[in-house]
Amino acid sequence: MERSHLVDLHNATKSGVYRAGIAIFAAYTMDDLTTAFRTHLAQTSPYPLALDIVQAEGCWLTDRSGKRYLDLVAGLAVNNVGHRHPRVIQAIKDQCDRYLHVIPYGEFIQEPQVRFAQRLVSLLPPGLDSVYFVNSGTEGIEGALKLAKRITGRTRLVGCRKSYHGSTHGSLSLTDNANKRYRNLPLLPDVLHITFNDASDLVLIDEEVAAVVVEPIQGDAGVRIPDQAWMKAVRERCSLVGAMLVFDEVQTGFGRTGKRFAFEHSGVVPDILVLGKALGGGLPMGAFVSSRERMTLLSHDPVLGHITTFGGHPLPCVAGLAALEVLEDEALVTNAQRMGALFKERLVHPAIVEVRGAGLMLAVDLGNADRVQRVVKACLEQGVLGFWFLSCPGAFRIAPPLTISAGEVERACTIILAELGRVI
Ligand SMILES: Cc1ncc(COP(=O)(O)O)c(C=O)c1O
Repeated sequence: MERSHLVDLHNATKSGVYRAGIAIFAAYTMDDLTTAFRTHLAQTSPYPLALDIVQAEGCWLTDRSGKRYLDLVAGLAVNNVGHRHPRVIQAIKDQCDRYLHVIPYGEFIQEPQVRFAQRLVSLLPPGLDSVYFVNSGTEGIEGALKLAKRITGRTRLVGCRKSYHGSTHGSLSLTDNANKRYRNLPLLPDVLHITFNDASDLVLIDEEVAAVVVEPIQGDAGVRIPDQAWMKAVRERCSLVGAMLVFDEVQTGFGRTGKRFAFEHSGVVPDILVLGKALGGGLPMGAFVSSRERMTLLSHDPVLGHITTFGGHPLPCVAGLAALEVLEDEALVTNAQRMGALFKERLVHPAIVEVRGAGLMLAVDLGNADRVQRVVKACLEQGVLGFWFLSCPGAFRIAPPLTISAGEVERACTIILAELGRVI
């Protein structure tokens, strides 16, 4: 136990206040913390990484033993401006001195929400000028589905094969991952899946369809980039039959793919845009964005057609706005392009089938799940944190903060290549 905790324990015991609280102080030791983590936190798998992180800065994580890790995951495409960027931290501190939660979303004028929405839409094309803030990516998808049903008066929803959109029932209905779905059936009725990047399935998008939900670059499928012609064909088909085209940019947004938003690669503009992850600058947040005219439907017949207590909380709003300014001022979108290209250039090895992706949303494909497990584990031991994909076990993910430097990319690649050579 660290000395300061012993002093706390001594004082507390002496004062007689926390005699029964010794277990709390004991929880500061690493082993007990791990036990408490496994006992009192609901687990998502039997094999969590269970790194005990005490500090994060830029592209680096430090665990309780003092070991440092070069972070190639960025909290899963969240920390695009790096961990604890000083401008983000300052914005959060300043807002803490003003107010935190004051009222459920939509009632009061809260300057952080207004300023953030204003700045966000200034970077988006016409028709995406009204923002509804929620708390997560999956909630953004739920809002988008409800909005599309309201706009079209239809109920059928279309998703893509191998997609991932979140864990709530609506998002899971669109998600094409049998393993995530089978214990939750039945999901939403009247949902179809088309093959991503295959024009022959587009006939399924007809006048019955309310929404077609697409990741402009599929993430958890192992980073799949569609042809621009397919994206344009989907857009045309949706416009022809009056279906809403919804782009899920939860993972691809905010510079991750080497453009501010991934739809800029094809120039295809959706009717509804869903955001999350990096949106809140490291704090939890999601949003769906559409035109003001369309969004107005949620405030009439019935009023309060979509409501949230915490959506648009002032802290993620100020953090998100600060992060957006950092993204622009530090030219991180360009850095994502350059550093992504450097990863591709450096990661050449007989065991690497392909390095796929755009910007700093990369999949290193080894074509073999067992090799992926061994390499990711070996790299972690050498202080480089990579991660897996939900639907692509033969590849591992590289998605670091967009602030990563050429030196850090070199270091990561040197270790990955060395470990590939050692364990394969
Ligand atoms: C493309 C995509 N959509 C939606 C989600 C769900 O976001 P959240 O986990 O914030 O609900 C994710 C999460 O990984 C995602 O990658």
